[in-house]
Amino acid sequence: MSKPDVLQVGTYPEWDQGPLEQSFTMHRYFEATDKPGFLAKVGGSVRAIATRGDLGADADLIAALPKLEMIAVFGVGYDAVDLSAAQARAIAVSNTPDVLTKDVADLAVAMWLANQRRMVAAEAWVRGGDWLKSGFALTRRAHGKRAGILGLGRIGREIGRRLAGFDMQISYSSRVEKPTSGWRYVADPVALARDCDVLFVALAATPETRHIVDAAVLAALGPEGMLVNISRAANVDEAALLSALESGALGSAALDVFDNEPALNPRFLALQNVLLQPHVGSGTRETRVAMGKLMRDNLVAHFAGQPLLTPVV
Ligand code: 8YV
Repeated sequence: MSKPDVLQVGTYPEWDQGPLEQSFTMHRYFEATDKPGFLAKVGGSVRAIATRGDLGADADLIAALPKLEMIAVFGVGYDAVDLSAAQARAIAVSNTPDVLTKDVADLAVAMWLANQRRMVAAEAWVRGGDWLKSGFALTRRAHGKRAGILGLGRIGREIGRRLAGFDMQISYSSRVEKPTSGWRYVADPVALARDCDVLFVALAATPETRHIVDAAVLAALGPEGMLVNISRAANVDEAALLSALESGALGSAALDVFDNEPALNPRFLALQNVLLQPHVGSGTRETRVAMGKLMRDNLVAHFAGQPLLTPVV
C-alpha cells in the first residue's frame, strides 16, 4: 500500500524527518524554488499538509490541493492556518498543545525575572570590566509584586501557578471568569493593566485578539510596568509598544515574538529597556521531540481512520 502524500511546509528537527519519511511520502514544499510548478506536479496527490505554528497554511495553498484531508500543525498556535478555508472543505486540523505548555510558561517567568533584575545588562557589566570600577545599579524587587495574565488558557494558567510561588498578587483577564485559587478576574484589559506591575500576554491569536494590547493598555501599565509577550506578536500593537518603550511611557518589555519575525523591527535593537528572545518558548529538545511525535501521531490517526489526538477542527 502506498504511503499517503504529505506536503511539508517547513523544516523539522532532524529526528522528525526520518519517522515522517518512513510513514508518509513527504513533498518538501519549502525547498521548491518554483512553488507553483511544484504544486502543479504533486498537488493533485497530496492528502495532508505538515506545517508549523509560525508557517501555517493559507487559503491559496489549501485551494491548490484538491485531495487535502488534513492539516497537522507542529505547534499550539494555529493562527497562521486559514481555518475558514479548511472548514469549508471539512479539512481536519490538529495542533500540539499540552506538550509545550510548561516550557512556554517557564520561559515567560524566566523572561520576567531576568528583565526585572536586569540580568542581561548585569552580565554585560561583568564581561565589559565595568564591575572593576563600580557595582551594578540597584534593580527592583520581583517577588510580591502584582501580576496580570491576559488569557487564562493552558499556558496562562501555568504562568499563574509559577507566579504564586513568588508571592504575587495575581489577576487575569479572559473571555469568561474561570475557577482559580483566589486569582482576581478583571474582564477589561485596560483595568487589568492598571492594577498590575507586570502583564503577561498568553492569549491564542485570533482576529478578535489582534492588538488587544494597544496604546491604552500600555499607558495603563505605565512607566513602572513591564509587558511580557510569549503568545503572538499580533496580540500587541507593536507600533504603540515601540513608541511607549522609546518615550518611557512603558517601563520595559520582555518579548519572544515579533511582527515579521525573525526580521524584527530594528528599533527594538536600540532599546535598553527590552529583553529580546528568538521565539524559543517551546524551544527545548524534550518539548520539540514531544511536539513532533504528537504531530505524527495525529497524521497516523487520521490516515488510520481514527479520531485525531488533538484536533483544532
Ligand atoms: C512553534 C509556537 O511551534 O507552538 C507554537 O505555536 O509558536 C512554536 O512553538 C514554532 O513555530 C516552532 O517552529
